[in-house]
Amino acid sequence: RTIFLKDYQAPAFLIEKTELHFDLDETRTRVTSRLVLRRNPDLAGNVEDTLQLDGQDMVLESLRIDGNELSSNDYVVADESLTINSVSAFASQSPDAGFVLECVTVIKPQENTSLEGLYKSRTMFCTQCEAEGFRKITYYLDRPDVMSVFTTTIVADKDKYPVLLSNGNDIAHGDLDGGRHWVTWEDPFRKPCYLFALVAGDLKHIEDTFTTCSQRDITLRIFVEEKDLDKCDHAMDSLKHAMRWDEEVYGREYDLDIFMIVAVDDFNMGAMENKGLNIFNTSCVLANPATTTDLAFQRVEAVVAHEYFHNWSGNRVTCRDWFQLSLKEGFTVFRDAEFSADMGSRSVKRVENVSFLRTAQFAEDAGPMAHPVRPDSYMEISNFYTLTIYEKGAEVVRMIRELLGPEKFRAGSDLYFDRHDGQAVTTEDFVLAMEAASGVDLGQFRRWYTQAGTPQLKISDNYDASAQTYELLVRQSCPPTPEQSHKDAFHIPLRMSLLNADGDELPLVLSGEPAASDAPTERVLDVTSDVQSFVFKGVKSRPVPSLLRGFSAPVKLQFDYSRDDLLFIMTRDSDGFNRWSAAQDLAVAVIQEILQQHQRGQSPGIDKRLLDAVGDILRSAVADARGSGELDQAMLAQLLSLPSEAYLSELSNEIDVDGIHWARETLADALAVEHAENFADLYKLCQSDAPYSADAASIARRTLKNCCLAYLVRTQEPRWLEICYRQFNEAGNMTDADAALRLLVNSPAEAAQPLRTQALNDFYERWQHESLVVNQWFSVQAIASRPGTLAQVKLLMNHKAFDIRNPNKARALISAFCNMNAVNFHALSGEGYTFLADQVITLNRLNPQIAARLLTPLTRWQKYNQQRQHLMKAELERIQADPELSRDVYEVVSKSLKAN
Ligand code: ARG
Ligand code: ZN
Repeated sequence: RTIFLKDYQAPAFLIEKTELHFDLDETRTRVTSRLVLRRNPDLAGNVEDTLQLDGQDMVLESLRIDGNELSSNDYVVADESLTINSVSAFASQSPDAGFVLECVTVIKPQENTSLEGLYKSRTMFCTQCEAEGFRKITYYLDRPDVMSVFTTTIVADKDKYPVLLSNGNDIAHGDLDGGRHWVTWEDPFRKPCYLFALVAGDLKHIEDTFTTCSQRDITLRIFVEEKDLDKCDHAMDSLKHAMRWDEEVYGREYDLDIFMIVAVDDFNMGAMENKGLNIFNTSCVLANPATTTDLAFQRVEAVVAHEYFHNWSGNRVTCRDWFQLSLKEGFTVFRDAEFSADMGSRSVKRVENVSFLRTAQFAEDAGPMAHPVRPDSYMEISNFYTLTIYEKGAEVVRMIRELLGPEKFRAGSDLYFDRHDGQAVTTEDFVLAMEAASGVDLGQFRRWYTQAGTPQLKISDNYDASAQTYELLVRQSCPPTPEQSHKDAFHIPLRMSLLNADGDELPLVLSGEPAASDAPTERVLDVTSDVQSFVFKGVKSRPVPSLLRGFSAPVKLQFDYSRDDLLFIMTRDSDGFNRWSAAQDLAVAVIQEILQQHQRGQSPGIDKRLLDAVGDILRSAVADARGSGELDQAMLAQLLSLPSEAYLSELSNEIDVDGIHWARETLADALAVEHAENFADLYKLCQSDAPYSADAASIARRTLKNCCLAYLVRTQEPRWLEICYRQFNEAGNMTDADAALRLLVNSPAEAAQPLRTQALNDFYERWQHESLVVNQWFSVQAIASRPGTLAQVKLLMNHKAFDIRNPNKARALISAFCNMNAVNFHALSGEGYTFLADQVITLNRLNPQIAARLLTPLTRWQKYNQQRQHLMKAELERIQADPELSRDVYEVVSKSLKAN
């Protein structure tokens, strides 16, 4: 059952008004809906008389049209739908004029482990409706192009559920007999049902106000369980920053009078942008210095902003159908990334994003589930909440800004919101608005939406000393992906500049252009053909090109830089991103060289130029920490971090799991030994007695400090293990404690063993009542590359604090082991693969979305040697043989086995 974009049809019926009544109960929840429908007048000649509603996992109690009760002969209930054969037989006037459908159903939220629709998380009721969860609540036209005004009444026991929330404004409430009470909420903005939300529970909240640019006061509330009230301030600050930023940068003002966030413990994803009532995974909203790492603080800020920004990019302007998902997600990720860049360090934010994209999204684009930013087909839409839709989608929006420039981009965004406010639209509408406001032709650019795969840019150069010309010859290509063997050329914005021997940028004049005294020193070249030549004139000596600055397009760049060129860019380029990128490329080259020597049985020789370059960085960092404190310490930490095993794997044709691990460890250990003194100085200089603060400079300082500690622990000197243990014990914040714990757990040193046991025990004892911290404790253990980790993971699966039904726990243990512990997951015994398949088979019945997501590492079998391929495919086949496979898991398993 594949769904195709080409089969899209506008809905035959519209729902003008939706009134919902929930009778919440521990055993059976009754949902009464009253829908005002009419035939869609926009469809010429629409005389549709059959109404098919979506719905699953519920019992229908009664159905009426205009007050006339339908009998079971008048409709057909199937697994996923309710079909009324002849609407006009019951309607009191023509269905063109409208009719009222009343429907009573009974559902069992307490048994809903899929965490889609209405379900229970610990003691509260909550909902997740995107993409197609509303159909588990009541029969409905569950598609985003059906938009309706919602009024929701919730009835529940007042003691257990004192707080009853839904979208919009609280318009009435009261008490009932039997200790029950009710609240009615009304959302004045038309919305698709995926943005509906309901929450009921014994919740406490913090409150604040935000005054908008037009002086309207908005009430802001964050609801949590009482024990978490001390973890809400950071989310509240982030929300206010995001609201201001969206006004200033995009001209977007908030529209309702109240904005609410609720934290729930059991949640499939990060968070959800329901109109006026965002629901968050606790992991993306709670933050407190004692329990939360800097990384998590930053994630909270980003996710709070992301969901808030959806109020415009997603809610006011929504998607016509789910093929358009990137319309809201790609744009909103781009918006939240720019917000984070403005709140912290812009280059570091870019480095983090690009690392993630090049590692995980590039791997997806090269795997069996590769799909375009706007897919053509899917079996289960939940499987398409992917890095391609989100992260590559954000890069596509970023490229539009590269091509238009910031002013025209803003004009395009204004036009888009203005034109389509209140509508459900397509990615094409977005591009059309950008074109209309800018006059820039994005015709060829549209291929980014329809073609999957990561384009490659192979660039070579040619300097002609006598003509004083410098040529860049650019070739682009894109590998085949499932169902797309041939690709047409992309329109690629290539931001670049040319550096002379002093590191200065040269004026850039292309041949054919008039010479100009004020020629720009940085340009965005339009790469549009398979092969294209750019000739610069007036170039007095051979330059070093600085290419793809700021990662101006999501492509793989190949240019034959010498290691000296890379060292030059790394130290001299004015583009911070490219300095980092050159450092990465250099480290990659050195690690690959070590790996090749290892594979040939030679002992490793480590390029001294890299060792020296790291020494230079360290010395300047030490001098800066002693003196002016001008350097961006977060960027220094990035420069000192080696490319991850996952990135090195992505770059390989056939992944040598153990070789990559060994080569990378070898280089890291060598750096540690070579520069121990500098690392020690810097570690000490980065200490601080100031109380914890999550500002960018403090986070940067801690990151750099813990990066130094990691190298120092690598020396295996007992005193550094002791210092690490002391940091663990005495840390005044979770960032420092967690960093030290990870190092103790990972260290292969003999002396680390007793410290590790002690630290893990103490940590659990101390934090056992903080669920999110316990999750951290699970993952720290799951990612240890030492032998025997899988046995430990299996023990932890039986720990009293573990519960596979909770997605955060499943991710903390199972996902962490399978994705961040390559040497153990890919053990040649195959036990890692068997373990994952067992968990997928269990979760397939409980929570198909999570099961399908966990499966990802097994689907990448093509990249491993024959022996591993065989083992991985055998486990995929074992999963495929399960007779009760969910649509989610079926799609991923069958597509990955088909890819041959
Ligand atoms: N729209 C949400 C966000 O990115 C994600 C919802 C995902 N839901 C799902 N069923 N996959 O902000
Ligand atoms: Zn989103």
